[in-house]
Amino acid sequence: MSDIYRHPEEYDLEHSGDDEDIGFYLSLVRTLQPKKILELGCGTGRITLPLATEGARRGWEVIGLDSQPEMLQRAQHNRSEVSPEISAHLRFVAGDMHSFCAEPKVDLIIVPCSSLSHLLELEDQIAVFQRCFANLNPGGRFVAELTMPNLAAYSDSFNMPPRTLVEIVKWVDAQSIGLEDVHLARPTLEDVFIELTGKRLRE
Ligand SMILES: C[S@@+](CC[C@H](N)C(=O)[O-])C[C@H]1O[C@@H](n2cnc3c(N)ncnc32)[C@H](O)[C@@H]1O
Repeated sequence: MSDIYRHPEEYDLEHSGDDEDIGFYLSLVRTLQPKKILELGCGTGRITLPLATEGARRGWEVIGLDSQPEMLQRAQHNRSEVSPEISAHLRFVAGDMHSFCAEPKVDLIIVPCSSLSHLLELEDQIAVFQRCFANLNPGGRFVAELTMPNLAAYSDSFNMPPRTLVEIVKWVDAQSIGLEDVHLARPTLEDVFIELTGKRLRE
């Protein structure tokens, strides 16, 4: 995987206040009443921790699995900050969703926040589905969440130049630069070429 998960504190910052999906998973768990829950690609525990907080009162256990050491380290740190009652209902494990083995099996496997979209090949996706099937108790559920691309916006993007020019009107030092000094332009490819090379595209 790329470096995008090497800075978990930035991940948490980017997702601070994102709680719509947490509400969804809490309602799901209240409704399904599983005893053991596994989150694949749990990251820093953004969803795992609230599930365990309620699990401490209602009796379910939560396991978070992730393959990125930095994310897991942050998850362990976040776990160390909750009460012993909550942390007793929560475990983080290092592992790859292609090959994990939950012992004992679980009742609910969730993959929130489009983590599955890291699997680019169909055979990888199928391998994960097979692992989930093998690790669920009879009657267990597998819930995966994926963002559907906005195909209209994607198609529109073909009509736009591949970059945006940021024009800084006055050169001021980075500390004091204000929004009024920055202009976003929607240039043509010709504009971009001239900006980069000082020449016209077809001279
Ligand atoms: C978008 S983040 C989601 C984190 C967390 N579920 C959340 O909702 O905040 C995707 C996570 O999936 C993990 N991941 C990606 N590929 C994985 C794999 N093959 N096995 C386990 N974890 C993986 C990444 O390390 C990252 O923490």
